[in-house]
Amino acid sequence: MTQFETVEHDVLVIGAGGAGLRAAIEASAQGVSVGLVCKSLLGKAHTVMAEGGMAAALANVDERDSWKTHFADTMRGGYYINNWRMAQLHAQQAPDRVRELEAWGAVFDRTQNGKIMQRNFGGHAHPRLAHVGDRTGLEMIRTLQDHGIHQGIDVHMECTVSSLIKDGPRAVGAFGYTRELGKFKLFKAKAIVMATGGIGRAYKITSNSWEYTGDGQALAYHAGADLIDMEFVQFHPTGMVWPPSVRGILVTEGVRGEGGILKNSSGKRFMFDDIPDNYRSSTADTPEEGWKYVAKTDANARRPPELLTRDHVARCILKEVKEGRGSPHGGAFLDIAWIKEKISKSEAHIKKKLPSMYHQFKELAGIDITKEPMEVGPTTHYVMGGIRVNGESQMSTVPGLFAAGECAAGLHGANRLGGNSLSDLIVFGKLAGEHAAKFAKENSSIHIDNELVDQACQEALAPLDSPAGSQANNAYEIQYELQDLMQDNVGIIRNEDDILKAVDGVEKLKKRATTVHAPGNRQYNPGWHTALDLKNLLLVSEAVARSAVVRKESRGAHTRDDFPEKDDNFSHVNTVLRKQDDGNMQVVQEEIPPIPDELQQIIEDNK
Ligand code: FUM
Repeated sequence: MTQFETVEHDVLVIGAGGAGLRAAIEASAQGVSVGLVCKSLLGKAHTVMAEGGMAAALANVDERDSWKTHFADTMRGGYYINNWRMAQLHAQQAPDRVRELEAWGAVFDRTQNGKIMQRNFGGHAHPRLAHVGDRTGLEMIRTLQDHGIHQGIDVHMECTVSSLIKDGPRAVGAFGYTRELGKFKLFKAKAIVMATGGIGRAYKITSNSWEYTGDGQALAYHAGADLIDMEFVQFHPTGMVWPPSVRGILVTEGVRGEGGILKNSSGKRFMFDDIPDNYRSSTADTPEEGWKYVAKTDANARRPPELLTRDHVARCILKEVKEGRGSPHGGAFLDIAWIKEKISKSEAHIKKKLPSMYHQFKELAGIDITKEPMEVGPTTHYVMGGIRVNGESQMSTVPGLFAAGECAAGLHGANRLGGNSLSDLIVFGKLAGEHAAKFAKENSSIHIDNELVDQACQEALAPLDSPAGSQANNAYEIQYELQDLMQDNVGIIRNEDDILKAVDGVEKLKKRATTVHAPGNRQYNPGWHTALDLKNLLLVSEAVARSAVVRKESRGAHTRDDFPEKDDNFSHVNTVLRKQDDGNMQVVQEEIPPIPDELQQIIEDNK
């Protein structure tokens, strides 16, 4: 058997973004030993790319805000298929988690009277996003990392987990390799928290970093956990479209929160053309009213249509492009410079509120956003679906396996509101850490079967051991083909023929992936890493496509032009994916438990 190092922790956290770090801190605070696995270097998590802020009803900028309004906004944004208990806990606990971050050293922007500043974001009824300029995710990671390193957590950096190990129905370990030297590691653990983030690298145009290859979703699925609602992939309306080398990089919604407006090639503010009925009463129908809201000169003014939900704004931009009114490189114009006329006379104000955007466009596109509009278009940003968890404990359907953050599902329903991700990480990261520690204390005896470790080892070595030559396939080629396939067929607007093309295409790519050969050995070998990531990308792509077939309606981020309306038959169902004994993916639809009357009343009161 190939050699491996064995390490043992009570709780193993896989993923060191906001959710993983918060889970590790909490588990450690409960007095158990904690290991934290990072695919990248500690502090370099994708969370740093979440720019605009974290949503929490602190009511610092608009005192009318409350957890109830935040809950109702989250449910409306998610088209009511959210896990209502998670939406409730999130809205109730986010303010405490944000204040806790401040106590741990996060330096938020401040209001005139010294409170944590909050900005507008799409779908939120009030300015709700606590932020640090447009570098909020970075500040969150810095703070959690600074706090976490004093908690006695063992950090395993640049290490990728390739398999989970079970003892009967229960998850008891993980097998992985160090990325530099390819050394194998077996992690024994009484409880495991999955916090690996999203799947954006399954698409060609994405805001996601290289780590986002669906690892947690795929590992949990193979270990027997349910995945739900994988058809809901969020396309952030504003990514960079030019130059090609940076296409997809995030342009924070904070630009629109600070007053940025969208225009087409004729200079028209096209977002006024289509305001959905359920947002009509809260959305301005004149530019004049919209700017009064942003400038806070009239608290009762309605929000500008650029602050409608992401699914809607992304579709509106796509429509302009498809109908020939796009910007030169296939997007729309996003103009923040205009605010100098009405809201703030100074360029310094824009640079202060959006420092990263200023530098990003100046350095990468040669555009000065204080003077000229940006060119932006939709980019794959987030997956609402993922590992099914218990709303209270965050345990998946596999005992001992917990999940938090983007790889877990439920909170956001069919569409996530901007800013609800960073608060999701700290609310559910904490709960997952707490319950994982409790589980570890109550279930202390574990057994690891050596045969399963051997199997994990062989699976990891397969791309290196597989024969080279004309029959061999190249992992990079398959990954590029997969990204094109998903972008073209399961993108913003879908239909049956295209989705089936994706299902069929993924099947063919899966077959080719069985003969992928990675040249070289285990040391410093990105080709080998890509071959292993590819298996996860194929799995999550299959999950997205198969789920998209069965939801024959349009809801939130899942838009089908063959079923353009919402359908009541799907109003109360989650799409559930399970691995069957023969290895095939089963897709079923299951009823969402009925929402309690008091929560339904909150939704009605906030309509
Ligand atoms: O636009 C943004 O700054 C992204 C934030 C988010 O996805 O929550």
